[in-house]
Amino acid sequence: MKLGFPLFPDSGSTLAPQVDAIYFFGLLVAAFFSLLIAVSIFFLAFKYRRTPENLVGKREKAGLLLEITWSVIPFGIMLVMFGWGAKVFFTAQRPPENAVEYYVTGKQWMWKFQHPEGRREINTLHVPLGQPIKLIMTSEDVIHSFFVPAFRAKMDVLPGRYTHYWFEATKPGTYRLFCAEYCGAEHSLMGGSIVVLEPREYEAWLAGEPVGGAGLASGADLFKAKACNTCHRPDSNLQGPSLSGIFGAQAELATGGSITVDEDYLRESILDPTEKIVKGYQPLMPTYRGQLSEEELMQLIIYIKSMSEESDSVGPEAAGPRSGRASETAS
Ligand code: CUA
Repeated sequence: MKLGFPLFPDSGSTLAPQVDAIYFFGLLVAAFFSLLIAVSIFFLAFKYRRTPENLVGKREKAGLLLEITWSVIPFGIMLVMFGWGAKVFFTAQRPPENAVEYYVTGKQWMWKFQHPEGRREINTLHVPLGQPIKLIMTSEDVIHSFFVPAFRAKMDVLPGRYTHYWFEATKPGTYRLFCAEYCGAEHSLMGGSIVVLEPREYEAWLAGEPVGGAGLASGADLFKAKACNTCHRPDSNLQGPSLSGIFGAQAELATGGSITVDEDYLRESILDPTEKIVKGYQPLMPTYRGQLSEEELMQLIIYIKSMSEESDSVGPEAAGPRSGRASETAS
């Protein structure tokens, strides 16, 4: 929606028209009833004004039909708003199955991004047009909030857990990114941009950028450097459970019950390993709290995820466990 002046942000995602439609519906309903009530107040005040000095008022009774009408109509309108709102909410909350996963770390006062191919960026995120994109987000310090007005979506970014955000861009261009949660002195400067490129331009952009970046080890390297591989080997179930194929599966817990292995569970198991022990294992693993940055944790989680996708090709990182196992069986 363009009105010539910036009353409304650009509309740049598949969600934007849906959010706008419900917003305008609400606005229309509110405007209609505000007007109806305002006009009625003036009209009735004029019509029933006291004319002769000694006139005594008579009690008016509303009929049952009128009572029912003014109860049922607003109730119906509210139900429409609720049903419609819930539908848009569910759409906004559930990333499509084919969404590609990107990683976001917020910190005072910048946004760090990682592409599924391993490219990293700060404050600017390049994405392809027409592809649903899921952001897996966490914070290194305080609460931030990832907000792109043109996508009509916003999600808090919290320390200590992962939150999700998804969008599918519908128009190439550069869209402003804001932090929408007060996070300290430079909160107002904590912004950036989302650059939406045609798929071919995006490929070209990816090809021109170096993989990874200085100062951050890959998940495969960290897995070895932090000695995760001594206990979590795909061929060994002695000290720790094998991690291959574990992501997205159900893990049975020693305390009974089970848990879906997701990003949050992996993160917890690295930082507080004794919290939720998998059935059949001893609480032997030391905590890695304080030894890994949020970004390193993400690298490890991305690597563990890649172990779950070993049947399809998932890039160079997956070569780690696969080639490792191949050599084991060969010897
Ligand atoms: Cu980060 Cu406000």
